[in-house]
Amino acid sequence: MDERYSAPGMPGVGNGTPPDPCTVVIFGASGDLTRRELIPALYELGGQGLLPEPFAIVGFARSKWSDEEFRERMQKAVETECAFDKERWERFRRCLYYVPGDFGGSADHDYAHLRAKLDGLVAEKGQTGNVLFHLATPPSFFGTIVQRLQASGLASDDSGWRRLVIEKPFGVDRTSAQALDREILSVFEEDRVYRIDHFLGKETVQNMLVVRFANPSFEPIWNRDYVDHVQITVAEDIGIGTRAGFYEQTGIVRDMVQNHLLQLLCMAAIEPPGQFDGAALRDETVKVLRAIRPVDVAHDCVRGQYGPGHVDGKKARGYREEDKVDDHSSTPTFAAVKLMIDNWRWAGVPWYLRTGKRLPRKLTEVAMHFRQTPHMMFPSEQRNPQRHVMAFRLQPEEGIIQTFSAKQPGPRLTISPVTMAFRYATAFGVAELPRAYAWLLLDVMEGDQTLFARADWISEAWRIIDPIVAAWEADTPADFPNYAAGTWGPEGADRLLTTTGREWRII
Ligand code: BG6
Repeated sequence: MDERYSAPGMPGVGNGTPPDPCTVVIFGASGDLTRRELIPALYELGGQGLLPEPFAIVGFARSKWSDEEFRERMQKAVETECAFDKERWERFRRCLYYVPGDFGGSADHDYAHLRAKLDGLVAEKGQTGNVLFHLATPPSFFGTIVQRLQASGLASDDSGWRRLVIEKPFGVDRTSAQALDREILSVFEEDRVYRIDHFLGKETVQNMLVVRFANPSFEPIWNRDYVDHVQITVAEDIGIGTRAGFYEQTGIVRDMVQNHLLQLLCMAAIEPPGQFDGAALRDETVKVLRAIRPVDVAHDCVRGQYGPGHVDGKKARGYREEDKVDDHSSTPTFAAVKLMIDNWRWAGVPWYLRTGKRLPRKLTEVAMHFRQTPHMMFPSEQRNPQRHVMAFRLQPEEGIIQTFSAKQPGPRLTISPVTMAFRYATAFGVAELPRAYAWLLLDVMEGDQTLFARADWISEAWRIIDPIVAAWEADTPADFPNYAAGTWGPEGADRLLTTTGREWRII
């Protein structure tokens, strides 16, 4: 029997080579993220033939599990989240180990156990000293874990590389993010820190760069002369599920806008970097954020919270009725924000961002809305208000859709909007794209920081976001809940555009 746990690739997905041997340590291994994303992503990497050999995953969390219990639980996760293959699982499960311990436990107890496990893997499995520490814990533990890693000698890269992956949210505002950075950077230098935003691992996000910079026809129109405005939508049909504790503290702006939506904006607005590498690309994304004008919260931001309604034909309760949510909660579950980028390319072009829970459907896209032609020679009744739009669809049905005007067949000149679409599924024959986490974890194993946020990016993002959060926290909303579950958010979000003669794309 083949002893390798990596299988050859997936139809339609390009080839790669496995990285050097390493061990992935997951702090928070009994949590939701490990079950829903991290283990499935690593299992899928195995399916692509992209796991190193030898390879090990060590879960670390408070639950008193054995290696075997961890394996059983992770099997359920993989069965739920992935296309399960029994034989492949049997090989993968042998990479899984577990150490019970407290994140705040002492360096010579809990962390010593972890160290002993890692040393044991080196001795027994021929593992190297390369270790990726993934902090999938509540953010309040990030600083403590880093300190303990240092105190127990685990952070030192004397016997192999040691890298740190940190989940979002990174801080709760600019001050706390900078304090967290000081704590982390006193142990791990910036080139060993990977602040993860899984949106950057989504295929279409990188495709925004490829489409613009690998084709001659798009970049010349990617500016204020041709673009009227940009709409970025991250819509979710789900509510907050079992995450009330987290969500009540975080809200939509910290959870989604500060990271995912601003990353999408940066990828669409970026200047061409000299080359596709971590330093050049990240320098350019920081420049985009620096050029964003301070937000006028009263005029340019709209918040919402869902009330009871219907999603996908089923009754959905309101946010305040969700388990463990305060009956009078002011936490926003929807935000629409207008941002202006004060630079040569984008001066005067509004960027409209909207995101919300319990909207009619799950859909993420970046849509560039182009200007009307300078002179419309067609009769006025034929001047279709539908603009030329190029939409990068991140999910579902990943691809790029262009909407433009064309003549409808017939004796009269009738102009109609038509679409031209590129879809990954049809173009590359990939039924389902590998999950974003898979590519990002592979990047960490390869030491490639291109798609990870640098400290200065995070700090700039909070500069933009802090005034919105502060203004909303200082002023209790009188109208919450202000949109029914299963609708596109509060009326104010529509007004943000209609007052300028624009409207949200119907999607
Ligand atoms: C996470 C947020 O970062 O992204 C969640 O914390 C959100 O609230 C999720 O549901 C959305 O990710 P995706 O990949 O499902 O669009």
